[in-house]
Amino acid sequence: MLRHLFLSAIIVSLATADDSNCDEPGRIETCSCSTKTKRIPDGCNLVMAKSGIKDSGWGVFTLAGLNKGSQIGGDPVIQIPDITPEGAKGSRRFIWEYLWDGSETGGQYEGIRVMTSVPGVGMLANGDPRSFNILPGKAIVNNFGFSRQSSPAAGSMTAYRNYTWYVTRDLPAGSELIVNYGVNWFKERGFKQESYEPKPFDLQALHDNGYCLDNLRPGDSTIPHAGRGAFATRDFEEESIIAPIPVLVISDSGLAQMKQRENGEIVVQQQLLRNYCFGHPNSSYSLHSYAPMVNLINHDDKTPNVKLQWAEESVPLFSKPVFMMQDSSTKLLLELVAIRPISKGEEIVLDYGSEWVDAWEFHKQQWKPSTDDYQDANEINNSYPILLTETELQTAPYPNGVFTSCFYRFSSETYVQVAEWKLARGLLQSSNLRPCSVVERVSRSQDDVTYTVRMFNHPGLAQAHRIPKGRSHIVRHVPREAIVFSNKLYTTDQHLETAFRKEISLGDIFPIEWMDLK
Ligand SMILES: *[C@@H]1O[C@H](CO)[C@@H](O)[C@H](O)[C@H]1NC(C)=O
Ligand SMILES: *[C@@H]1O[C@H](CO)[C@@H](O)[C@H](O)[C@H]1NC(C)=O
Ligand SMILES: *[C@@H]1O[C@H](CO)[C@@H](O)[C@H](O)[C@H]1NC(C)=O
Repeated sequence: MLRHLFLSAIIVSLATADDSNCDEPGRIETCSCSTKTKRIPDGCNLVMAKSGIKDSGWGVFTLAGLNKGSQIGGDPVIQIPDITPEGAKGSRRFIWEYLWDGSETGGQYEGIRVMTSVPGVGMLANGDPRSFNILPGKAIVNNFGFSRQSSPAAGSMTAYRNYTWYVTRDLPAGSELIVNYGVNWFKERGFKQESYEPKPFDLQALHDNGYCLDNLRPGDSTIPHAGRGAFATRDFEEESIIAPIPVLVISDSGLAQMKQRENGEIVVQQQLLRNYCFGHPNSSYSLHSYAPMVNLINHDDKTPNVKLQWAEESVPLFSKPVFMMQDSSTKLLLELVAIRPISKGEEIVLDYGSEWVDAWEFHKQQWKPSTDDYQDANEINNSYPILLTETELQTAPYPNGVFTSCFYRFSSETYVQVAEWKLARGLLQSSNLRPCSVVERVSRSQDDVTYTVRMFNHPGLAQAHRIPKGRSHIVRHVPREAIVFSNKLYTTDQHLETAFRKEISLGDIFPIEWMDLK
C-alpha cells in the first residue's frame, strides 16, 4: 500500500517535469501546465518552505509585500495541562522545541504546569528575538455554545480560538515570518544562536519548493456539533494539494493528563490534544498536526472532499524506529489532497475513519447532560459591570467556581505592600493575568470607578513573579477593563472526565512499521 502510494507520487511528479512549458525558468506565472500538481496556486500569498535559519527545517514566507499591522492566522490553540512525568520524558523534544508556556495564550488556569500547542504560524515559523517581524494577539476564549448542559461535543474541542498574528513592520515580498520567542528561548534550550538577518527570498524558489498555506480559512461549520470549520479560499481541481500537514510523533503517555480531584485523589485522563492527532488502532503512537487551519477540518464520511497522503520525502523515514522520530529533527509531512473539484467557499471535510465514527456514535449514546452548576467565566463578564468587594461576596457570591483575575506585573525585587496600577505596553497580555480580589470600590463619579485589589499567585508562576509567602500585595486604582473572570483550576469543559477523546484515523496510510500493538 505504502510503496504503491510512493510510486504514484513519483509518476505524478515525472508527468509535471515532462511538461516543457513548465520547465522554462521564470515562466511559472504564465505557465499553462495543469494546476493539479502545482503546489502554489495563483494568488497564494503565504507559503511553507525551507527556512533561512540554519537547521531549522521549514519556515513561513510571504509571497506578497505585507504592511505593518496586517493580520495573519486565526488558528485554534490547544492547552496541554499537567503532562504525566512519563509522558514528559517521552515527549521532550515536542515539549521543549515546539510548545509554548501556557500563560502566553491565557491557559495558566488550566493546570499547575500548562503548555500550549499553537498550530500554524506559532509552531511553523522560526524565532529570533532581534529580527522578529510578527507578534501574537490574544485568543478568543469561549465554548461557542457547546455547553456541558446541551452538547455531547462539550470539552471535545479547544475553547481557545482565532489566535491572530500582527506584522510589526512593512515586509517586502519573499520575507520569512519570524516570531519573537523571547531572548531566553535559545539559551534555555542550549541552541547556539547566530543573529539572523532575514533577506527576502527569491520568489521563484519559493514557488518551486514551497507549499501554499492560505488555501483554507476558518468559519462556522454547518455540521451539527462541529463548531468551527475550514473553508476553501479558492477553486481547486481534483488532486490539488490543499495544505501541507507537518506532524509530530507523540506516544500514548504524552497524551495523558494528571489531575487532582477535590478529594485529593490523582486521576489520569486523556489530553484534549488527542483530538488534534492522527492515529491507528494498532499503534500506540499518534501524530499531532501543526499546520495552519488543518486542525479545523471536520468529519464527513458520506461526501468527503479531501484525503491524506504522505509527502514523498516522508516515506523513506518509516523504516526508522518510531521512537527515533520523536527525537530527531526529521520532518514528517502529510499532504491534504482534493479528491474531487472543490469550489471557493466550500467547507473542507475529511473522513475521520471508522474507528473515530464508532467512538463518536458510542459517546453520543452514553452522553448525558451535566447537572453541575458550572458557568463559563467568559460568559458572565457582562452581568457584572460593577465588581463586588470581598465583603459583599460573602452574602452575594459570584457563580460557583468563578473568580476575578487582574492584568498586573509583579516583581518580587521591587516588593512594596501597596502599589499603584499603571497601564504599560504589553500589560494586557494574557501572560500577566493573576488572581485578585476587590478590597474596595473607589468611585469619584458614576463614570470613574476604580478598584483597590489584593493580588495573589497562581501555580506555575516563576519565583521572580511570586508574591513572597506571608506578604500581602495591594494595588490601587485598577480599572474595570483590567479585571476579568476566570474559572477555577481543572473546571473548564476540557477537563470533563466524560468529554469525547479520539484521534482521527489515518487508516491504511499509517506506517505499518510503527504499529506496535498488533
Ligand atoms: C479573529 O481575530 C481577528 C483579529 O483580531 C478579527 O479581525 C476577526 O474578526 C476574528 N474572527 C473571529 C471569527 O472572531
Ligand atoms: C467586561 O465588562 C466590562 C464592563 O462591562 C468591560 O469594561 C470590559 O471590557 C469587559 N471585559 C471583557 C474581557 O469583555
Ligand atoms: C490490526 O492488526 C491486526 C493483526 O494484524 C489486524 O487483523 C487488523 O486488521 C489491524 N487493524 C487495522 C485497523 O488495520
